[in-house]
Amino acid sequence: MIDYHVDADGIATIRWDMPGRALNVLNAQSIEEFARCVEQALGDPQVRGAIVASSKPGFIAGADLEWLPHLDAQQMQAQGGRIRQSLRRMETGGKPFVAAINGAALGGGFEVCLACHHRIAADNPAVEVGLPEVQLGLLPGAGGTQRLPRMIGIRNALPLLLEGWKLRSREALESGLVDAVVPDGELLSAARAWLLSPGAQAVQPWDAKGFRIPGGPPGSPAGMETIAAAIAMVRAKTWGLYPAPFDILSAVYEGCGVDIDTGLKIEERYFLHLFGTPEARNLIRLFFARVGLHKLAARPQAFPTQAYTKIGVLGAGMMGAGIAYVCADAGLEVVLLDTAPEIAERGKSYSARLLDKKAAAGRLSPEARDRFLARIRPTADYADLDGCELVVEAVFESFDLKGAVTRQAEAVLSPRAILASNTSTLPITGLAQASARPKNFIGMHFFSPVDKMPLVEIIRGRDTSDECLARVMDLAARIRKTPIVVNDSRGFYTSRVFGTYLNEGLAMLGEGIAPALIENAGRLAGMPLGPLALADEVSLDLQARIRAQAMAALGDAWRPPPGDQVLLAMVEQHGRLGKKIGQGFYDYPAGARKSLWPGLADCFPVRSDPPEIAEIVRRLRYVQSLESVRCLEEGVVTDPRDADVGSVLGWSFCPALGGAIGHIETVGLARFAAECQLLEEAYGERFRVPALLRDMAERGASFYSASPGIISST
Ligand code: NAI
Repeated sequence: MIDYHVDADGIATIRWDMPGRALNVLNAQSIEEFARCVEQALGDPQVRGAIVASSKPGFIAGADLEWLPHLDAQQMQAQGGRIRQSLRRMETGGKPFVAAINGAALGGGFEVCLACHHRIAADNPAVEVGLPEVQLGLLPGAGGTQRLPRMIGIRNALPLLLEGWKLRSREALESGLVDAVVPDGELLSAARAWLLSPGAQAVQPWDAKGFRIPGGPPGSPAGMETIAAAIAMVRAKTWGLYPAPFDILSAVYEGCGVDIDTGLKIEERYFLHLFGTPEARNLIRLFFARVGLHKLAARPQAFPTQAYTKIGVLGAGMMGAGIAYVCADAGLEVVLLDTAPEIAERGKSYSARLLDKKAAAGRLSPEARDRFLARIRPTADYADLDGCELVVEAVFESFDLKGAVTRQAEAVLSPRAILASNTSTLPITGLAQASARPKNFIGMHFFSPVDKMPLVEIIRGRDTSDECLARVMDLAARIRKTPIVVNDSRGFYTSRVFGTYLNEGLAMLGEGIAPALIENAGRLAGMPLGPLALADEVSLDLQARIRAQAMAALGDAWRPPPGDQVLLAMVEQHGRLGKKIGQGFYDYPAGARKSLWPGLADCFPVRSDPPEIAEIVRRLRYVQSLESVRCLEEGVVTDPRDADVGSVLGWSFCPALGGAIGHIETVGLARFAAECQLLEEAYGERFRVPALLRDMAERGASFYSASPGIISST
């Protein structure tokens, strides 16, 4: 696991190489073995210094996340104590240690480096250093919050600790995170040379007499100012939903004002607090859920992996242009088709603009740019689709038009080719009626902007085959999108549940709740924008069109969604269609910040007895979680991981809450159900507890129980 070797000059090399693992990680075994190697080097009179290195392409990726969540608080305390003690032995044992960083050194991996007396990184693009624990709701608990500020100053350390920045070799050198960067092949020789040099110190600056933190301690005027500004920033960014940044600030503030050993104890206390929070549990669970989806855990296994070479995209508008970009970025040949060559060409120019930005930032050579663009062929001729293994349809949202282009494309394509519609609202089974081979017809719902949004929602129609699903998942993997798989339903999963957030906000306005209160409650609920601002972004006329389609399709079964009258009044009476025309619930003056439209006060008079803000927040969260349970109950979603990852990546449901389903687990199923009952009495049927949830709450079951039968037990 860790190779220990001493050479003739008395240089020990402690080389990490965990068997059967792609990455080195910190867990009970590796911590123990590393501690033993450190003691061996310190206890051997032949050894004058030690190199900490790795035989894998990465250095140490951090804590083993398959191990960490299974520890209870006591075990965590014991394991944390072991690594902290061995790192402290390393820095105070009287022999110099140097870290030879050949690849990613993150979290606990970088904390090992921080405890070395010297850090050398290879000049290699795979090197990344940083302390990303905050992203999992934790803090660096092996000395990161104490050593980093003592090394580079509190002001410089805070962004790394609070935002989890990862730095490449050169940036790490400039920021003082490493002491030297050397050519890739010279890493170990440079580490040896340092140990053999007269300057090789076996004392950390913070253990030397008269040490002062660069920029001043936390209690100094500069330190106080930095911490105060950071508190304000964290408060503004997190809306109090994430405890980790506050605990990090406390650990730095309290720990950096005392000696390092006391500081490490303070850090440990905050780490153990965070380790027990639901936020950390949720963020770690989501991390694993996403990794599982990325590895295509739900892909039907019976079919060989589809290798793609050529993709067609119908419609070169906003979505088509983005889809063409991500496919070409993955090295695929793309045929981008629209009604006229110049419109298709305009779609291609979207890629050119993105690439130009990259080239201007020095991240792309002119040759690579040209090669990229040569992969996209704009056209108005369906014959060019010949040879495509898959075609994504992204024309206007019209049932008849989508049917017509499907027929035209299929006339050219091989019978095995897949047609994937990017519709955001039209049921796939209905669209598949236009196809001569509905087995190979599927939904592939991308999010805007396609090059930035990591999610793709794959929708099975009634007739979609398992093989087609498997092959589409292979494309998702190829273009590096996280796929969730859902069954057909109006709005599928993401649009359907996201819509409930918007509708609830509109309903509140109709009830006389002040718009500013609604918007703040949306932020407190963990959403990136209030429901009125988001409704403006989506555009109100689009929502009215979706409403009209649902009404036509459902006939007598159609029920007006909450806030229906507000939507109609805004669109039909006031012509306020949203951000795109500069007028919606907000005004969007050119060159100035948006502000709530003053006319709202006349249209939707504010009542004098508003409900408690906590209740408004609860409504905005619970309405989404309940709709997600309905999706599970109806079989639209079959795995809570799809629902949770879909909600977080699709419409930014607060990850610290665990995603739309994880949120129910966080509240507790029984309490959640009881609170919904009160909401149902006050606001109506949409808060009725679905039978699946009621039943699970009564049985004390969990959506994430290891027992697979739970979700399908209705
Ligand atoms: P858009 O209006 O920007 O682009 C549609 C394109 O289709 C236009 O360039 C139009 O010329 C082209 N087109 C029309 N008839 C055609 C035909 N017969 N043959 C070939 N091309 C034709 O629309 P957008 O926003 O790109 O949406 C496209 C689809 O993606 C819609 O179904 C929409 O619901 C869906 N969608 C949109 C999202 C969004 O955020 N805008 C998100 C996810 C899905």
